[in-house]
Amino acid sequence: MVSFWSLPLFGALHRCGAGSLLTTHLQSGPESSARSASPSEPAFPDAPSTLHVMKSTMQLRGLMTIIRDRSTSRADFVFYADRVIRLLIEEGLNFLPFREHTVITPTDSSYEGLAFTGRVCGVSIMRAGEAMEKALRECCRSIRVGKILIQRDESTAQPKLFYAKLPPDIADRHVLLLDPMLATGGSAIKAVEVLIEQGVPEDRIIFINLVAAPEGVLAFSKRFPHTHIITAEVDDSLSTSKHIMPGLGDFGCRYFGTDE
Ligand code: URA
Repeated sequence: MVSFWSLPLFGALHRCGAGSLLTTHLQSGPESSARSASPSEPAFPDAPSTLHVMKSTMQLRGLMTIIRDRSTSRADFVFYADRVIRLLIEEGLNFLPFREHTVITPTDSSYEGLAFTGRVCGVSIMRAGEAMEKALRECCRSIRVGKILIQRDESTAQPKLFYAKLPPDIADRHVLLLDPMLATGGSAIKAVEVLIEQGVPEDRIIFINLVAAPEGVLAFSKRFPHTHIITAEVDDSLSTSKHIMPGLGDFGCRYFGTDE
């Protein structure tokens, strides 16, 4: 089987995307501090080559502005978060393996295209990651979706696995791991440990998230240097209460309507 990485076309695309674009940013204005992709600079000092920040189009900036605005209604938050998540999932699918595939068009001509080769599944980190399942299902018909619940163990202050339900053949699949907020990285690291215990190679996991803190990116990539991280924007930092700054608040509460 020809892998995504061995195809010359995709090697070139990957070098372009994962090499220069992946670790680059566009400073988003004098007051704002969320960072996104531009061809020249890393998203932040020491950003890993596995970090892929989406290109900062005006459309993406506009969508992110709505979901970051604290006065946005829940209906709008859900609608516009869904739109960004859809873009992220589409971006994540670029990291899956393809092979050359030629078809004949209705004009009797041949078209030298590509076909996805691998097997894929999603895994959402509960509860906020479940908000990303809809877009995944819209892009990948009848995809299998596992779930992992991780919470902080109050006695050790460490992330603890409470529940995991995964496709039985997950070791043979590429995994799109879903969690919208990468703060300290604790839950995402624990989730990848669970996947690796199930036999999924680290480089077959693609972690898709909406907003990342540099601290979380660095902790995650130090532990898993071969797992790609796809994010819409990288923010400034974490607050002492471990909220992403400027962030968007508690994603799960805003999306599922459990905030005040
Ligand atoms: N989870 C959230 O929902 N928001 C943050 O800022 C950090 C973690």
